[in-house]
Amino acid sequence: MKILITGATGMLGTEITSLAHHRHHEVTALPRSEFDLSDPVCSGRIVAGEFGDLDIVINCAAYTAVDKAEEEPDLAYAANGLGVGYLARACAMSGVKLLHFSTDYVFDGDATTPYTEDDPVCPIGVYGNSKLQGEEAVHDSGAQAWILRTSWVIGPHGKNFLRTMANRRDDDLGIVNDQTGTPTYAPFLAEKALDLIERNPPPDLFHAAGPEVMTWFELARQIQERMPNAQGLRRPITTAEYPTAARRPVYSALDSGKLSACLGPMPPLSRALDHYFARSG
Ligand SMILES: NC(=O)c1ccc[n+]([C@@H]2O[C@H](COP(=O)([O-])OP(=O)(O)OC[C@H]3O[C@@H](n4cnc5c(N)ncnc54)[C@H](OP(=O)(O)O)[C@@H]3O)[C@@H](O)[C@H]2O)c1
Repeated sequence: MKILITGATGMLGTEITSLAHHRHHEVTALPRSEFDLSDPVCSGRIVAGEFGDLDIVINCAAYTAVDKAEEEPDLAYAANGLGVGYLARACAMSGVKLLHFSTDYVFDGDATTPYTEDDPVCPIGVYGNSKLQGEEAVHDSGAQAWILRTSWVIGPHGKNFLRTMANRRDDDLGIVNDQTGTPTYAPFLAEKALDLIERNPPPDLFHAAGPEVMTWFELARQIQERMPNAQGLRRPITTAEYPTAARRPVYSALDSGKLSACLGPMPPLSRALDHYFARSG
């Protein structure tokens, strides 16, 4: 397939780009400096055919600074809302399919069991609101689009919880133990994303997260178990003890049963951690 990947140097974009090459797709992978989502001229280049006869755009670009978004909402909405709209409409006009990523932060966190695709959305912060605006723009565009909502993405690239924990072997850290979610390993998510476009089911919204529900503290504990010589303590703390500019949903676990029924389940966290620590030595 001929694929355009936006946000190609981000945590997920890096994985998807490398796997798409590995699977012998014809890939154009663009960082933000070469394709700015919030600039309609960039999406116009798809309509103008500048990237050739594309089969699909995989949008890994997003404004992801959850706390900073509270201070600079215009930038978040420009990329995640309006910008996604430019991209989706360009895809619709050009007959190019779209795979777009969204987030567990479209939910308010009041649930006690994992959210399905049918549960009502109600974001509690700017980032979640801007991502919801993007989902709506994709729906309204008429593009042949899949939306994958993911959560708590960790992996070998970029700034993320797994890398942070793995690099703080000797520090004593308080880790939030009253927020619950579904950690998702970026290389496994990349596999599901490419499996999806290769399988080519009808356009739909899917939850695409790891299979285990846990708190950040529990995740930190499982990471540290893989670091035999680590000296640092991991202590459970509350959200109130770790204040952030943006409120997070207390519970944002995603039920990925619908995607599993289509493509098989995402591998467990133990396999993710095996893979990560084998790679990082
Ligand atoms: N990470 C998570 O835990 C998580 C959870 C749920 C959903 N998601 C979703 O998963 C997708 C991938 O996120 P990620 O984790 O890979 O985030 P990431 O590592 O922050 O990558 C996002 C990429 O988008 C780029 N970008 C930012 N603004 C842009 C713009 N206006 N135009 C073009 N590119 C822009 C960034 O470039 P710069 O670095 O140069 O700014 C970066 O390369 C996003 O849709 C995100 O909302 C992520």
